[in-house]
Amino acid sequence: MPATTHCRICGGTVREFIDFGRQPLSDAFVDPDRGGEQEFFYRLATGVCQSCRMVQLMEEVPRERMFHESYPYLSSGSSYMRAHFEGVAKHFLTTELTGEDPFIVELGCNDGVMLKAVADAGVRHLGVEPSGGVADLAAEKGIRVRKDFFEQATAADVKRTEGPADVIYAANTLCHIPYMDSILNGVTELLKPGGVFVFEDPYLGDIVDLTSFDQIYDEHFFLFAAQSVQAMAERHGLELVDVERIGVHGGEVRYTLARQGARTPSAAVAELLAEEEARDLAGLATLERFADNVRKIRDDLVSLLTRLRAEGKRVAAYGATAKSATVTNFCGLGPELVPFVCDTTPAKQNRLSPGTHIPVRAPEAFSSPYPDYALLFAWNHADEIMAKEQAFKEAGGRWILYVPEVRIV
Ligand code: SAH
Ligand code: TYD
Ligand code: ZN
Repeated sequence: MPATTHCRICGGTVREFIDFGRQPLSDAFVDPDRGGEQEFFYRLATGVCQSCRMVQLMEEVPRERMFHESYPYLSSGSSYMRAHFEGVAKHFLTTELTGEDPFIVELGCNDGVMLKAVADAGVRHLGVEPSGGVADLAAEKGIRVRKDFFEQATAADVKRTEGPADVIYAANTLCHIPYMDSILNGVTELLKPGGVFVFEDPYLGDIVDLTSFDQIYDEHFFLFAAQSVQAMAERHGLELVDVERIGVHGGEVRYTLARQGARTPSAAVAELLAEEEARDLAGLATLERFADNVRKIRDDLVSLLTRLRAEGKRVAAYGATAKSATVTNFCGLGPELVPFVCDTTPAKQNRLSPGTHIPVRAPEAFSSPYPDYALLFAWNHADEIMAKEQAFKEAGGRWILYVPEVRIV
């Protein structure tokens, strides 16, 4: 009998289709002086709801374990993403935020990468961000931040003190939140009658196409698709009125929800829904095929790294991503096969990667001297990183990619 649980959206039966086993928290970098004593593990497995088709984790990690004062992820770590979010801000400033005293609320504003441009334009805004350290960085940029988890009670309080919002926005945050009823109750309470709730998150269609199984980890509780988002919206009197596929982070969709009947859905909504239906995106057969592809990538990657070690090649990894926790722990990659990983994030440096304890070094370690092979954990930033690291290629270095398949470039 396959394992099942209850859907966090509709209460239906969730059927498991892949089990990554025991995993650490993906952003819990280990202090070498304290060894692994403080590490928390849970079972990472994913299933699909047989009623509303939402793909979701089988087990939830308590939110305070993931999002706290020293949450290390910084949204401003990529120049490409900084430009992306400036574009998002500009878009809102010239469309939804042109009326009388407009107001935008962002869930998970992190270090303020998007709201900075809104604050600079003098438009009323509020970031809701529970992770204290990154919230402080946003505040230092002149952004108004509330250090809190967004949920129904927070939304009600924001509405009471600040009034209703024209736009509620969340990037790479909504999919982190299992308590969706509370979120959507909050959204419907806080949003103006004609307002929009816009969120962008990794797209199930791209994850299946690329076999990007590293998009599955503790913080990514849901893997959204148009079908499941539409079903989720309808339960709260909301309607999916636009979808846009965007190339960031390995393939995402930007979903726009409005109150039912308030806006005319764009043609793109019906098109994406039809495409998902035609390819049976959330069907068990599709997802079990995905799981087979994941196991092949694991086997190929372990064989390649084992061969390179036997040949005496020097290997390093690039980007201590949250995603890579799934790769290293599922494939059993520790310092024997991957001696270190370099990363620009100060709070990750001189620590050990979660679970398999690969040392994290500052970017300078990468070039002193260059390794023979670099395993690109931050593959979603490949264009930016490969452009920056041209000297590595010129010195004879090769990149190892594992999405959509294991290959050397
Ligand atoms: N929007 C940024 C940050 C994404 S990381 C970007 O796209 O780069 C996810 C963020 O969501 C973290 O900073 C985390 O602290 C925050 N978060 C988690 N749960 C939340 C909640 N309930 N309400 C608001 N923010 C939340
Ligand atoms: P990212 O893929 O954005 O997210 P996640 O952690 O959720 O998987 O993480 C990118 C990581 O790679 C982040 O720790 C910063 C690091 N990085 C570099 O070290 N150098 C770079 O040039 C870029 C773009 C990122
Ligand atoms: Zn469901």
